[in-house]
Amino acid sequence: MKLTSLHFILFSVGIVGTAIFLALFSSTSRSGRKSLFQEENTTKVKMQTLSGLPVPPIGYGVFRMDPGAATRDAISTAISIGYRHIDTAKLYGNEAEVGEAIRLSGLPRGEFFVTTKIWNDDQGYDRTIAAAKESRDRLGIGPIDLLILHAPVVGKRLDSYRALVELQKLGVTRFIGVSNYGIQHLEEIRVQGLPTPACNQIELHPFLQRRELVAYCERQGIALVAYSPLAKAKALGDAKVVEVATRLGVTPAQVMLRWGLQKGFVVLPKSTRAERQRENLDLRVEIPTHEMEVLDSLESGLVTGWDPTVWK
Ligand code: A2P
Repeated sequence: MKLTSLHFILFSVGIVGTAIFLALFSSTSRSGRKSLFQEENTTKVKMQTLSGLPVPPIGYGVFRMDPGAATRDAISTAISIGYRHIDTAKLYGNEAEVGEAIRLSGLPRGEFFVTTKIWNDDQGYDRTIAAAKESRDRLGIGPIDLLILHAPVVGKRLDSYRALVELQKLGVTRFIGVSNYGIQHLEEIRVQGLPTPACNQIELHPFLQRRELVAYCERQGIALVAYSPLAKAKALGDAKVVEVATRLGVTPAQVMLRWGLQKGFVVLPKSTRAERQRENLDLRVEIPTHEMEVLDSLESGLVTGWDPTVWK
């Protein structure tokens, strides 16, 4: 029989179709687990939080990444792997690198969600207004997506928050929120009749669950954004985390992060290594209820950074 190009095309389609079927079948039978996300690349799915924040639930944190080309390249790598949500701050000194990596990516600005923060020294109404505009200009990507107060500075935080409200009206930022706030700080905002913050970014992981604060935020419709969701790698060797990871066929880091997602948190893992950035983005494997309970039992008040939620 003479082989025509039609035969060749039909043959190729058959091979590709079989390959796709096998890939799908083997991944289903291997894991046999449900997926929280429709897409493999979970960060591209935007989570519509109660506060209306349209945010990719896995963000890339750039804390302690020094200014310069190495950081810009690490961010570029993260973008190429699929991260679209980047969390920076004036304090980190790398807003310019974040903006540069986004511009270099050539991707539409609208694909990204960028958070930056007003550092404590810049709090107070006028300084906050000025500092926000400086941050926006350093980023150089148009309006900031989410602008938050880095911490509840005593005596200044309400004026700073009023400035955020104004900055949102001015179009400097799309959303406003807070970070490291305890219930007492959030109550101040509520009592003043000011708009509810879109988020409270706090340290959260199985070893620091802040249940009362989390329940308060959920009641008020304030999205919870978890920083140091890996507890700065200090507890990845914990026996129970390792056991759960082994039973589910994933890594301890994936267990910690997926625990946060299943609690409804946005998670901000930080890694300078491409293979870990990839691993931290692949959180498809669902943790069953009984394994979530094992992780819930790990609460131990482990604060790996600072704890301004207790400030007066
Ligand atoms: P590295 O940057 O060398 O990858 P957190 O996000 O809680 O602040 O934790 C950050 C720490 O966790 C960094 O030390 C980072 O190291 C490490 N880390 C990030 N991802 C992983 C991972 N998938 N496995 C192990 N360690 C990780």
